Amino acid sequence: TLGPDVVDIRAFSKTGMFTFDPGFLATASCESKITFIDGDLGQLYYRGYPIEQLAENSDYLETCYLLIFGELPTQAQRAEFQKTVTRHTMVHDQLSRFFNGFRRDAHPMAMMVGVVGALSAFYQDSLDIGNPEHRRVTMYRLIAKIPTIAAMCYRYNQGLPFNFPRNDLSYTANFIHMMFATPCEPYEPNAVLVRALDRILTLHADHEQNASTSTVRLAGSSGANPFACIAAGIACLWGPAHGGANEAVLKMLDEIGDESNIEEFIDGVKDKRYKLMGFGHRVYKNMDPRAAIMRATCYEVLTELGLENDPKFKLAMKLEKLALEDNYFIERKLYPNVDFYSGIVLSALGIPVSMFTVIFALARTVGWISHWNEMISDPQQKIGRPRQLYNGAERRDYVPEDKR
Ligand code: ACO
Repeated sequence: TLGPDVVDIRAFSKTGMFTFDPGFLATASCESKITFIDGDLGQLYYRGYPIEQLAENSDYLETCYLLIFGELPTQAQRAEFQKTVTRHTMVHDQLSRFFNGFRRDAHPMAMMVGVVGALSAFYQDSLDIGNPEHRRVTMYRLIAKIPTIAAMCYRYNQGLPFNFPRNDLSYTANFIHMMFATPCEPYEPNAVLVRALDRILTLHADHEQNASTSTVRLAGSSGANPFACIAAGIACLWGPAHGGANEAVLKMLDEIGDESNIEEFIDGVKDKRYKLMGFGHRVYKNMDPRAAIMRATCYEVLTELGLENDPKFKLAMKLEKLALEDNYFIERKLYPNVDFYSGIVLSALGIPVSMFTVIFALARTVGWISHWNEMISDPQQKIGRPRQLYNGAERRDYVPEDKR
């Protein structure tokens, strides 16, 4: 809320003045009731509930309900929500045919941008965005269909037939089934692994006005088609500075290779030759609260799979310990973020590195669409239209081609 450290400059626009803030380092672009981050204390709340309590007691689908509607559901509301989402998990057969137009080795995020954007051509009845009921159906469709499309991207890359959703499974177990089940080996849910993936989804469900959420809001502020707005969010998330960090952590661990090389690697980080991926955060200047939860989940998953002595995991734990004890990182308040551990969990679950950002997009869809809905519901909502400082050429006259 507005307070001593927040200056309301809206009136400037009437005087012709504006502020210059590249990267939006000091600009709140909107008011929101959805997520609160206290970066100094390392705290994250969805609709007022601490992320630790949600990760421990809730699950992803209930968190979706909370983010969208603002309250935890009653038992009946939860059952109805689950039934509705489950009913929408199938995608139109013609949408499946979109995939044939992609190369087999297309990056799954590239396919996600295209196929999710194409949903806008299938649901003309969701386009009356001024109507809350139409917005609600759009939100259900997105939450239900994104896992189906994400699994289709993976299966297409692998040259495998698509799996139909199984409505007897939970949201997250159904996603694992659509990814990995084969006719010879039907999917048998493993509670520890389902819970781990579900936690990853919960922890990534929203994070206030990050680049992709701001993209969805900006695209949606013109009244654009909501499926196209989510495709814009996916495109933004794809960038390595945003959604690609857990992928970068695994690459870094591969490059370090062995515990004996860690100290040399840390020296290289201090000499600014490279960064310690999975460390540091723009907003958290204390421990990322999601990281502590993901760290514990990492142990649970590796123990369940008998991988406690996995060399990559041991390497990561040694690297974490040495960095946390090192003054370079202490002075700069650099702590592990959620992605230091989530990549290790995802790869233990058998999810290939190219799918990591897709899983992030799946999780974040509810955050994007909740912000879109909050924005559209606001009667004062305006199109997002930043200004710029022009620093190009002065006025000059057109030069004919033979005089240039
Ligand atoms: N490794 C080494 N040094 C770092 C790191 C890092 N990961 N992150 C920041 N620093 C250093 C900077 O070099 C700078 O040092 P200096 O004061 O000597 O110049 C100091 O810490 C402050 O860093 P900034 O760049 O100002 O921090 P900023 O807030 O702009 O960056 C960011 C945040 C981009 C996340 C950065 O920490 C980083 O690149 N981390 C690695 C990538 C990563 O893990 N991203 C995931 C974020 S979480 C998520 O997206 C879910």
